[in-house]
This record gives sequence, C-alpha cells and structure tokens, in this order.
Amino acid sequence: MEIEVENIKFLDLIKEAKSVSDLEEIRVSLLGKKGEITNLLRSLGQMEAEERQIKSPQYNKLKQILEEAFKESREMLLNKEIEARMDSEWLDISQDPREISSGLIHPVSRVTEEIVSIFSDLGFSVAEGPQIESDWYNFDSLNIPPDHPARQEFDTFYIKPDDKGLKGNISPNVLRTHTSPVQVRFMEKHGAPCRIIAPGRVYRSDYDLTHTPMFHQIEGLAIGEDISMSNLKWVLIEFCKAYFELDSIDLRFRASHFPFTEPSAEVDIRCSWVGNSLVVGKGNDWMEILGSGMVHPNVLEAAKVDSKKFQGFAFGMGIDRLAMLKYGMPDLRSFFDNDMRWLKHYGFAAERSSNLYDKLSG
Ligand code: PHE
Repeated sequence: MEIEVENIKFLDLIKEAKSVSDLEEIRVSLLGKKGEITNLLRSLGQMEAEERQIKSPQYNKLKQILEEAFKESREMLLNKEIEARMDSEWLDISQDPREISSGLIHPVSRVTEEIVSIFSDLGFSVAEGPQIESDWYNFDSLNIPPDHPARQEFDTFYIKPDDKGLKGNISPNVLRTHTSPVQVRFMEKHGAPCRIIAPGRVYRSDYDLTHTPMFHQIEGLAIGEDISMSNLKWVLIEFCKAYFELDSIDLRFRASHFPFTEPSAEVDIRCSWVGNSLVVGKGNDWMEILGSGMVHPNVLEAAKVDSKKFQGFAFGMGIDRLAMLKYGMPDLRSFFDNDMRWLKHYGFAAERSSNLYDKLSG
C-alpha cells in the first residue's frame, strides 16, 4: 500500500464530513475496533520482522495524522453547529418566568415511610405480596376454612378467577382483605426465624367516615424460637412512642379473636377529644389502632414452618387510621377524593420526608 496516497484519501474523507455525527461515523470506520486503520495496525503482527520495521512507524504515523485531523475537524464542526444554533434559537429574557409548582407527598405515603422507618430501626425488614390473592392465602392458610364465620365478616370483593392452569383454591380470585397473607407467603419462601413488616393496599366493601373500599394496612410478623407476647407488647409500645413522638404512651391490650392468632389482642391507645380535635396520649377515651396476637400453629404449618420449634407474634394496623390520628384528619374518604384543596392542605413537602425516603431506598 502506498501510504502517502492512502493518507490523502483518508484526509479527504474527513474533510467531507458535514456534521459531528458524520465525522464520528467516519472515525469509527477508520479508528474504531474494526476500523480500517486498526486492522492495518493489527496486521503488523503477522509480518516478518524486517517488513514490520518499515511498516510499523508508517502506520503509526498515519494513525497519528488521522487522529489530529479528526480532532481539528471536530472542533471546527462543533463551532459551526453552535453558530448555527445561535442564529436559529433565541431567548426572550424579558418574559415573565412560569410559575413553578412542585408536587406534595400524600399523607398515606408519608405515614407509610414514617412507620417503615421506625420498624426498620427495630430490626424489621419490608416484604410485599400481591393485591389480588387466592382464597388459600387470604383465608385457608390463615386458619379460616370456607365454612368459617370470619369469611363473611370480611366484606370481600371477589373477582373472576384467572385460572392460568392453577387448580383448587390457589387461583387469584379475591382482592386481599388484609395484609396477613404476606405472613404465609414470606415464611413459605424464606422460612423462620424472620422479622418483617408488610405495608400495602387492602380492599373491603365498606364506605363511611372511617371506612373506604380500598385502604392501607401494615402487617408485622416476628417468628423465632422464644418470641412471646411480651416482645409484642414492647415492640408496639416502642413503635407508638416513636410514631406519636411521645415519651410515654398508654396502650390497652384487649382480649379478642382472630382465627390466625391465639391468643389474640386488639390494642387501643389512650386519647381524648378537645373540641373537634383528637389528642393522643392523654384523656379518658380509647381508640382502637390494631389487631395482634401469637401466630396460630396452623398458620405456621400452612407456611411449612415447624410449629413445635418456632413461635411468634403478628399484628396488623390501619395506616390511614394512624395518619388520621397523628395529623388530625377527620374523614377517611377525603384521602382518596383527589381534591386539590385537601391535598395541598394535608400534603407534605418533599424535602421534609427526603431523609426517610433515603433510608428506605438506601
Ligand atoms: N388481619 C387482621 C385484620 O385485618 C389484623 C391482624 C393481623 C390481627 C395480624 C392479628 C394478627 O383485621
């Protein structure tokens, strides 16, 4: 190959480039991984030593000349492009700026972040499950057989089962009525011991001042070899103190019944009404905030956990209810009306929750 001739041929190619992207294409075709010049340099390896001694400096020189030519041409084309843009684009700096409107964090998102953050400090990690559940996870596995009266209590929304080859009662066919199915799903997959919380949407056919057909719950589950009711009590007291930002808190554990816990307790928090607003922590009223208990052995077995070896507690609380209590929002229905006036009033500026968010996502 006559190196001088080639040299001119390549330089002409570079000169022809009309734009930076044109030029880049040419550069890749010459100096890229499979480029002509790169191949040329690669061919040195196959040459006899004598030939290589002559060709090597020539090729390297060629490469260097081309690299410089590319650089020069790139600069020139860039300048041209900038000039062209300056001619065609202009900015009217006398125009009034547009109003900047920043979004707000919905109280439910904010409170979920707060709750998750407190429980992660207590050593709980976050788990999730599907919102469209099967009878098995929503009921049977939680010790609620088909003829159990508790099935009727739940005001369940049923959907047409999607039986993609699934049989029996494991086809997804209900909108989950609580987050408790996540207990079984998690233990089935990860076994015991475990310590998780599971926030998410749940559905029940109900609508009044304190009920909406979709609402939010957070499930808690702690399973180990010697976890007891007193651990449950401590965790819930610590949680309430942190969440309501109070040094001490009065909780009332009231005997109750859930098919999936034994014994079971509903927990109320001491509060009072001052005029129209609720004060948490003092007074003579009680407000129910959650259901809880020791996980029933049948639930552990349904999740393939040895109930002779492991035991533990579970609880489920309403996130929206906790938000209403802490931020004094009287009507749950307005949470989901998408009324901008309400959202602006009760929404949180993004900066305020960014720390918690970092914690969650970090
Ligand atoms: N799943 C129950 C409910 O929705 C709450 C609960 C959870 C009770 C875990 C006990 C243990 O009412």
